[in-house]
Amino acid sequence: MANSKKTAKTIKNTKKTSANQMWGGQFSCSPSELMAKINVSIGFDKRLYRQDIQGSIAHANMLAQQKIISSANAKAIILGLEEILADIEGGNFEFKDSLEDIHMNIEAALKERIGEAAGRLHTARSRNDQVATDFRLYVRDALDALDVLIKDLQLALLSRAEEHSATILAGFTHLQVAQPVTFGHHLLAYVEMFGRDRARVTDARKHLNESPLGAAALAGTSFPTDRFATSKSLGFDRPMANSLDAVSDRDFALEYLAVASICAVHLSRLAEEMVNWSSAQFAFIRFSDAYSTGSSIMPQKRNPDAAELVRGKSGRIFGNLISLLTTMKALPLAYNKDMQEDKEPVFDTAENLGICLQAMAGMVRDLNVDKERMKKAAGAAYATATDLADYLVRELKIPFRDAHHITARIVKIASDKGKDLEELDLKDMQSIEPKIKQNIFNVLSVENSVKSRVSYGGTAPDNVKKAITEAKKRIK
Ligand code: ARG
Repeated sequence: MANSKKTAKTIKNTKKTSANQMWGGQFSCSPSELMAKINVSIGFDKRLYRQDIQGSIAHANMLAQQKIISSANAKAIILGLEEILADIEGGNFEFKDSLEDIHMNIEAALKERIGEAAGRLHTARSRNDQVATDFRLYVRDALDALDVLIKDLQLALLSRAEEHSATILAGFTHLQVAQPVTFGHHLLAYVEMFGRDRARVTDARKHLNESPLGAAALAGTSFPTDRFATSKSLGFDRPMANSLDAVSDRDFALEYLAVASICAVHLSRLAEEMVNWSSAQFAFIRFSDAYSTGSSIMPQKRNPDAAELVRGKSGRIFGNLISLLTTMKALPLAYNKDMQEDKEPVFDTAENLGICLQAMAGMVRDLNVDKERMKKAAGAAYATATDLADYLVRELKIPFRDAHHITARIVKIASDKGKDLEELDLKDMQSIEPKIKQNIFNVLSVENSVKSRVSYGGTAPDNVKKAITEAKKRIK
């Protein structure tokens, strides 16, 4: 109650009677404080300053080339914009909330600098195609930056995989020890996942790379513009074919957020494994001091905060995708102000995914690996039982399904005796299948188990080495 009273009072107090700075004409007063507050985007869209100026320079050049404005005006506009760019980058620019967004802030600053000619820049253009252009340029840069960061993580994983091509690790299904694998093989699985993430980045870039500039408000323009020229000068492949589509869709931002989300899924799985592996129960790895934190109360603690945050930040990254999907859902064509909500999710994802990828690459590079612990866990819980069953099939020509049952009975004996398979006497095994010979012990060690997995894509150390050579060729 108290709150709503206060709000009503605030609105009353702040109603202005002076003419509207931006729209002039039919507006007799400035917006109410709340209108300005809900409308303002400069606080975040100032990040688009570079793209906005780049787009405006391309537009001004084209207007002059097409004789829509004079070359003298274009020259003044471009010079002014370049000065503004330098001022912003030098921290000498004041962004004003009263000017709503980045487009109006820059245009107003241009007017202050060059006067009347500034007003000609917006010929044959609207903020609708302007913002769509700026944002496409921004997301294109974000995709390129993402590719570089994922690649660096791939290289970190590859170099550790090379070092651990024969290091034995427990392979899990259902988080139960399943079969021994090599640590290198496990890391290469992530190299593949991140490789597909990069392929998705490439695809998203292709879909994005068309220019909305010149679509104007929604219907195109009656001026003799050259949209192919602006498209080319901004590095787009072609102008977008439909002016309504050009100003209406944000699928390129959605695709970026989707690509980022899938990448965040991959990161979260690796992060989770690393959190598990670093616990006392697994103790397969130890994070370097650079990527660990202590506890304020428990002096013995060494917490994997960085890995946990990589795991945790996937939440906001998915949230950003859902947020923009929801904003865009069921919007009628063409531009709607709802779409101003498209930027913050993208900025947030770019920032946080960037940190996650770099932190993960750092953790991977620094990781201390306890090979003995890894190997010991790999041999536990009858992890080579499949090797025993395969022996029965290969050596004794027993059908696999029967071999599976025989092996299960041998595992039962071992478990009753509290022994590993390797520790059983030959006689114990022969009591279940008399044809089993001494050479059974060759297949029961974890080393021989991984060595035998030579099928394409399998975990044998020789395979892993070959896979690393292939991956290095692919990862350019
Ligand atoms: N700040 C706006 C946005 O980000 C720019 C476009 C405004 N267009 C309009 N018709 N009000 O969406």
